[in-house]
Amino acid sequence: MATSKAKQDLDWANLGFKYRPTKARFSAIYRNGAWSEGALVESPMIEVHEGAPALHYAQQCFEGMKAQTAPDGRVLLFRPDLNSERMNRTADRLLMPQVPRELFLRGVEEAVRANYAWVPPHGSGASLYIRPMLIGVGENLGLRPATEYEFRVFVSPVGPYYKSAGMAIISLAVSDFDRAAPAGTGAYKAGANYAGGLLATKKAQELGANEALFLDSAKRLYIDEAGSANIVIAMKGNRFATPKSNAILPSVTRRSIMTLAEQKLGLQIEERPIELRKELADFEEVAACGTAAVLSPVGKLWVDGQWHHFHDKGESVGPVMQKLYDLLVGIQRGELADENGWVHEVTID
Ligand code: PLP
Ligand code: COI
Repeated sequence: MATSKAKQDLDWANLGFKYRPTKARFSAIYRNGAWSEGALVESPMIEVHEGAPALHYAQQCFEGMKAQTAPDGRVLLFRPDLNSERMNRTADRLLMPQVPRELFLRGVEEAVRANYAWVPPHGSGASLYIRPMLIGVGENLGLRPATEYEFRVFVSPVGPYYKSAGMAIISLAVSDFDRAAPAGTGAYKAGANYAGGLLATKKAQELGANEALFLDSAKRLYIDEAGSANIVIAMKGNRFATPKSNAILPSVTRRSIMTLAEQKLGLQIEERPIELRKELADFEEVAACGTAAVLSPVGKLWVDGQWHHFHDKGESVGPVMQKLYDLLVGIQRGELADENGWVHEVTID
């Protein structure tokens, strides 16, 4: 007989990055100025009023996290406190109520625990993607904040975001569209940023790239970020740089990689505006990083009508990104010592 610890019979190595139904999701409602306790629900459907500000005025935000199984069977989250903090920064920016840290973590943990059967086993290369979301659901017509909100957490077992397993070498194309204005919502995880980026992604894919690379929208000179990930660069002279911009998402993965680059590889880390065309010749290895993207080396970049290639003409993964990937993923999967206290166990029983 199947126990509560039984796993789903899935082809874990070939999941792709897509939605798969699981048993339960967590939902809490904000009404009359207070959050409900929240509970697990079975239906993946949300019934919202047709006048919901989430539908009309994009008053909604989300987070992205992963749970992984360690060699000893523990289920680990990676720095969930930072996702909670970021959701609340976004909530403030969009005039939504904050989700208390305790409610956020409880919702994430309950959703993972209830769907334990879908948490990919250690060594499968897959992980459980976790999608916390906050949406304005109360009826409304004028342009004002909703009066009611839902905080929901659903999960889905996923494989790599980009097609191939392990470290996929990807390509990016500099976009003619802007993603976010300097004092707009680019630094917040608001769904509206992504709707605006869909056409840029399509155009990039028409050029044969995986994603668009956005430059700063004020001058179109400095690197901002990719459609679903931040950018990190191994530069000549043992430097490791990432763009400083108030229009990009403060990536949890990027912050962790910068720390590892300094602590473990002894690189000189730099967070500063990076002028693409002026500095391109100094780029040795470039990568996109994020929860879904993990650390994906960029083999080539479409800029000003031509492809510019990075490490080994984009044919192999460079040594710096390989080391950083191994360190990051090793910590996330509980294979390497967690010296910085980044992993958070979800107890299952
Ligand atoms: N930038 C964008 C636009 C993203 O959607 C993501 C994904 O969450 C990231 C960067 C990476 O952030 P994180 O590492 O916190 O997942
Ligand atoms: C994530 O990496 O968690 C994201 O939210 C990116 C998304 C476009 C899949």
